[in-house]
Amino acid sequence: MKLIDNYIPKTETEYNKLYQKSIEDPNSFWSDIASTFAWKKKWNKTFEFDFKKPDFKWFLDGKLNITENCLDRHLTKKAEKTAIIFEPNDPNEECQRISYKELHSKVCKFSNVLKKNNIVKGDRVCLYMPMVPELAIAVLACARLGAVHSVVFAGFSATALAARINDANCKMLLTADGSFRGNKTIDLKSIADEALTKCPSVETCIVLKRINSRIKLNKIDKWWHEELNGESDKFDSIEMDSEDPLFILYTSGSTGKPKGMVHSCGGYMVYSSYSFKSVFQYQHNDIYWCTADIGWITGHSYIVYGPLLNGATTIMFEGVPSYPDFGRFWEICEKHKVNQFYTAPTAIRALAKHSLDFVRNYDLSSLKVLGTVGEPINEEAWKWYNENVGKNKCPIVDTWWQTETGGIMISSLANVTKGKPTFATKPLIGIQPVLLDDEGKEFHENNKNGILAIKFPWPSIARTIYGDHERYNEVYFSNYPGYYFPGDGAFRDDQGNYRITGRVDDVVIVSGHNLGTAPIEDAINLHENVVESALVGYPHEIKGNALYAFVILKNDKNIDGIRAEINQLISKTIGPIAKPEKIQIVDGLPKTRSGKIMRRILRKIAAGETDNFGDISTLLNPEIVKQIVNEKN
Ligand code: WT7
Repeated sequence: MKLIDNYIPKTETEYNKLYQKSIEDPNSFWSDIASTFAWKKKWNKTFEFDFKKPDFKWFLDGKLNITENCLDRHLTKKAEKTAIIFEPNDPNEECQRISYKELHSKVCKFSNVLKKNNIVKGDRVCLYMPMVPELAIAVLACARLGAVHSVVFAGFSATALAARINDANCKMLLTADGSFRGNKTIDLKSIADEALTKCPSVETCIVLKRINSRIKLNKIDKWWHEELNGESDKFDSIEMDSEDPLFILYTSGSTGKPKGMVHSCGGYMVYSSYSFKSVFQYQHNDIYWCTADIGWITGHSYIVYGPLLNGATTIMFEGVPSYPDFGRFWEICEKHKVNQFYTAPTAIRALAKHSLDFVRNYDLSSLKVLGTVGEPINEEAWKWYNENVGKNKCPIVDTWWQTETGGIMISSLANVTKGKPTFATKPLIGIQPVLLDDEGKEFHENNKNGILAIKFPWPSIARTIYGDHERYNEVYFSNYPGYYFPGDGAFRDDQGNYRITGRVDDVVIVSGHNLGTAPIEDAINLHENVVESALVGYPHEIKGNALYAFVILKNDKNIDGIRAEINQLISKTIGPIAKPEKIQIVDGLPKTRSGKIMRRILRKIAAGETDNFGDISTLLNPEIVKQIVNEKN
């Protein structure tokens, strides 16, 4: 078997050469990469696609199990190597180190638990869990057995959890008695219980003991530790087709309900692994840490799958950057001698607000590579990160990608290609980004803004939206036929570096969380005194963007309490992360004659503009604009 290292560029020249090869002959390029993995049966055809249907297939008829590549394959040479370092929320609780051998046996055991509870290949299992090793183990156990995992971020509300469980018709829920978060505990089980009153498809709920809270078990509940009792640590991985679904992960859309993005086994394996190694340039003994939560795609691809596929040591952190103080990240970096550190701009901005001593107190000399993900990083945050964390010697990889892309699409490669502050820079090998003008025409001039699109498929493109292929087509492929449309705008400089300028649709990225405005408006509108609402994003110093709600009320009754009630409704239906920073009560909203709210104007008002709204004469009610501006505080 060839090693993946043979295809990882070490210099800019090698990058250019491999990139050229990957677009001139994608077939042989991806076939070479794929042959560095263990397959139960080799594929017959590298890829097949049709942007019109849309339909994407990779490594056709190949048979594999991703966990064989994450675990079994490493047992010959890396059995004793640490796969996962678990760093608990409380710094006084001991950290755990799980070797590849131990992880293998824990995963097998849990696959047996799933099997014993009637889970079979193709069943959907929902995970609503704290950031503890059991989450990663359960994810892998699902994959080993061929069950489709759907991890729901444990910050979501009962209603949001229930909607996701029901959308995928999950047969099982995996959760915990609670979770630790800074100096708080969160009662996950009661949120899960509330959700499950509305989820008839769930037959079994397995509960991990994490905070030792007193909970009562319902009829369908079982204790995690009791289920493990006496289970064998052998479980032959199930043979999966390349195109069988590996997982569903929900992401917000600009309208309606969340989209269950479906990723498939073969292509996702190849790309999450290859992109991890290319971008971070992970070397055998490195300690790698991504601070994301496994509830997001970053955690799937770059805490669990990418690192484990490469036999890396990956850190899982249960806590928050501010607990017990703002030095926690750096304390962990020092303690474990972290080499690659990957976090979000919002975390950097929040930490940069506090005393530099929190950074200076720790020895960060082990760091070789820094990364960011989730939103554009502003120059100030970039500089702070570079100077104070990287000590001006670590390249920063600014990685642009999405839940839908499965892996990093645009980024510099650490110490291989050049970074540029606020630019994600160049496409990864095999990725073909383009810029389109407003008419959807591809243009090649540089130093220009455009709509970002991808003109050739890659192995880990999401294959569909679970249960709604029509919507998949509509959202990603119909606006600009022949391209994948991610929903972002970008600028390209004269060196061909891309800078992501932000969303061009109604999705707002708040503290790195992708939030659709429509479902939040729906939540606001649930309030009996609300007539209509409009939600927009506006620039925020720490969060990147924050939400601003404009709300029309039926009457002035209890106007003071209404903001709190709206916030409660949002927390309950979506989660506290979706609460607006500001709620302005208005008499009307600017509307077109066809009744469409002109969000463009509201975005400007929220951002602090007082005029320059462009031509508003086409509005049904142009006078409302001035009134909203005047009443803003
Ligand atoms: C959206 C995808 C990718 C994992 C985390 C978010 C924004 C992501 C960057 C970046 C500028 C970025 C985009 C994208 N985004 N990374 N490096 N620079 N913007 O995944 O929740 O699916 O959100 O996040 O707007 O479309 P997601």
